[in-house]
Amino acid sequence: MDDLRDKYLGQVTAAGDEAALEQVRLAAIGKKGEVALKMRELGRMTPEERQQVGPRLNALKDEIASAIAARKAALEDAALDERLRTEWLDVTLPVRARRHGTIHPVSQVTEEVTAIFADMGFAVAEGPQIETDWYNFDALNIPGHHPARAEMDTFYLARAEGDARPPHVLRTHTSPVQIRSMETTGAPTRVICPGRVYRADYDQTHTPMFHQVEGMAIDRDISMANLKWCLEEFCRAFFELDGIELRFRASHFPFTEPSAEVDIRCSWEGGTLKLGEGDDWLEILGSGMIHPHVLRSGGIDPDEWQGFAFGMGIDRIAMLKYGIPDLRAFFDSDLRWLKHYGFGALAAPTRHAG
Ligand code: DAH
Repeated sequence: MDDLRDKYLGQVTAAGDEAALEQVRLAAIGKKGEVALKMRELGRMTPEERQQVGPRLNALKDEIASAIAARKAALEDAALDERLRTEWLDVTLPVRARRHGTIHPVSQVTEEVTAIFADMGFAVAEGPQIETDWYNFDALNIPGHHPARAEMDTFYLARAEGDARPPHVLRTHTSPVQIRSMETTGAPTRVICPGRVYRADYDQTHTPMFHQVEGMAIDRDISMANLKWCLEEFCRAFFELDGIELRFRASHFPFTEPSAEVDIRCSWEGGTLKLGEGDDWLEILGSGMIHPHVLRSGGIDPDEWQGFAFGMGIDRIAMLKYGIPDLRAFFDSDLRWLKHYGFGALAAPTRHAG
């Protein structure tokens, strides 16, 4: 019995991995192992012998089993130690240069515009990019036959023949959000509506998708003077120039009466654009007093309320402020361009102090 004990405990200690250990277990205390064979011999012994040998065999079996368990735990510990040693990581090493993204100029400028108008008490509203032609046109005093529909290069959504639903378009401007805001907030109201708009056009200053911001203020006695002040204040803050000069030029939009396009004084001397000086004028937005038909479309009584509205290209004012020459590059996702014109994630939108 002692020989058996020495032999198997020796083998357990010598086993270098779990497979070897399993071999030892089978040979020693498995069903056909040596200890089991010995137990079978008990049947042939006298009762006295059996009483003596039986418990010793059982004790031997237990001793080998616990030696195997201990060895197994030791092997596992060693394996874990080995892993910890080889997978060791020095967390104090300097990190690799961060591959950081940038804030797109359109996002940055949208934030800037929002911050400036928020200071003047304007809330922000959004509307759907897929609009019914009623919101995009009719409600804005652009009836079916109106030439403005053709001028807008509208993307119409395909319809199955016999579809009774109203025709849908990709909105051509943010003006439909005027109507949706009037419907939800009524009068008085002050709101800006930034967002994507779509027109079938493509050249250096036009892309099929671009961004506008609509503005609207409705109250009992809003006038063109309020509109002028508001836009001048905005431009001074946005372009960070006190010397900004605007020119309100009589124009026509179906949704405003009277209407004005707004130009900003600039110079192109030496091929670079400078705002606030020189003898040139650059158009930056359309505006006017909201047409009574439009107020009525939004459920507002034009005999009681009046308001101004304006629409401005976000990409366009981003190009002007940050000297970006080609609009198409805005949407090319060229990493070099994004790195050059993008803004750091923590760069707060600039806000003119004066
Ligand atoms: N919706 C016009 C456009 O996309 C811009 C515009 C002009 C908006 C005059 C207005 C406005 O609210 O009063 O060309």
